[in-house]
Amino acid sequence: MKLAVVGGGSTYTPELVDGIARLRAELPVTELVLIDTDEHRLGLVAGVSARILNRAGHPARLSTATELEKGVAGADAVLIQLRVGGQAMRHQDETVPLECGCVGQETVGAGGLAMAMRTVRVVLDVAERVAAVAPKAWIVDFTNPVGIVTKALLDAGHRAIGLCNVAIGFQRRFAALLDVEPSRIALDHVGLNHLTWIRAVYLRGEDVLPRLIDQHGEAIAKQIGLPEPVLHRLGVVPSYYLRYYYEHDAVVAEQKVGTSRASAVKEVEDKLLELYADPSVDTKPDLLTSRGGAFYSEAAVALLASLFGEGGDVHVVNVRNNGTLPFLPDNAVVEVPATVTSAGAQTWPVAPVSPLLAGLIGHVSAYESLAVRAAITGGEDLVTEALLAHPLVGQISVAERLAGRLIEVNRDFLPWA
Ligand code: G6P
Ligand code: MN
Ligand code: MN
Repeated sequence: MKLAVVGGGSTYTPELVDGIARLRAELPVTELVLIDTDEHRLGLVAGVSARILNRAGHPARLSTATELEKGVAGADAVLIQLRVGGQAMRHQDETVPLECGCVGQETVGAGGLAMAMRTVRVVLDVAERVAAVAPKAWIVDFTNPVGIVTKALLDAGHRAIGLCNVAIGFQRRFAALLDVEPSRIALDHVGLNHLTWIRAVYLRGEDVLPRLIDQHGEAIAKQIGLPEPVLHRLGVVPSYYLRYYYEHDAVVAEQKVGTSRASAVKEVEDKLLELYADPSVDTKPDLLTSRGGAFYSEAAVALLASLFGEGGDVHVVNVRNNGTLPFLPDNAVVEVPATVTSAGAQTWPVAPVSPLLAGLIGHVSAYESLAVRAAITGGEDLVTEALLAHPLVGQISVAERLAGRLIEVNRDFLPWA
């Protein structure tokens, strides 16, 4: 199969290539194309990627392209992992909302909306151009904010599935705590991208989550950045993105005195690029583990294997709701387990969602639909409305002020501004 990676110059790419090399039996990639507009970075990342494949004796043909159509022509799958504006604009997403007392996060709240405004049109353009030269390709979207971007892709009629590494991360960590193979456990994972809870962990058909919380509450609490009693109170495990809601004001206070994640990541990226430039480096550097993308390659390779192989495995993906969560519109995008085959992802009705979770899911899902509209159509009114709909903004004066600031700061990326 031919796999094309849009945003292939990402410092994360060697992680993906390492996964392709390791999991070769699962996913027979014969051609891998890395596509990026940043030629310098692309060269460095492709260099180390080629060495990783070589070292593993992997037969895939690796090439690069700066022109999208050239790279994706005839692809079976296209992975989109862009970051419009790079870490510099991420820094803005993480700091501008703080001016109004709102959390600064690249995918959550006002920062997430700014990222969506820069990104959605770019990804839609990529998808349209992909459809012209690779009409049968599956699009796997890793581009954040994944829920919003995936909704925009599906609304436009593309063959897309959104993917995030949060669920696979939990699966791997729970498996380690239980000392079993990750494939032996299944998660009841429910919500929207970066707004999810694990409600059950099945091992041999038995829900072992109560036991996990009892015996490993401290370790799990540490991983999600919330106090341990929260786990006992809720009886479910919120992802670490819930901290931005459940401890919003504490996070804002921390962020006001700390440095942004974007600055930290920028430093890591510079060091990674230095390593990639070193011809003796032919494995994925340990330094990559200091990024948030742990297991992202495994998630991507496993999903692609189901889309192109025998299929039938369960993956947590971002897909159309279509009744899965009955309190959301059918055309919302949800992040839930699904059975994936060459026909796509099939979800199933989930156990009733308690009001504590459903309230927030409904609120943020409504925001996401307004965010898609604001990102596509543009205009200060729609941006203000999306912010007003977000539970972490919600006040008219704050929404108005932040809308103005986000448009001002992102102007170069907004054709309508
Ligand atoms: C997790 C999230 C990704 C996000 C990443 C950020 O993996 O699921 O959506 O992009 O963290 O990691 P970083 O190292 O860039 O902060
Ligand atoms: Mn994610
Ligand atoms: Mn302009």
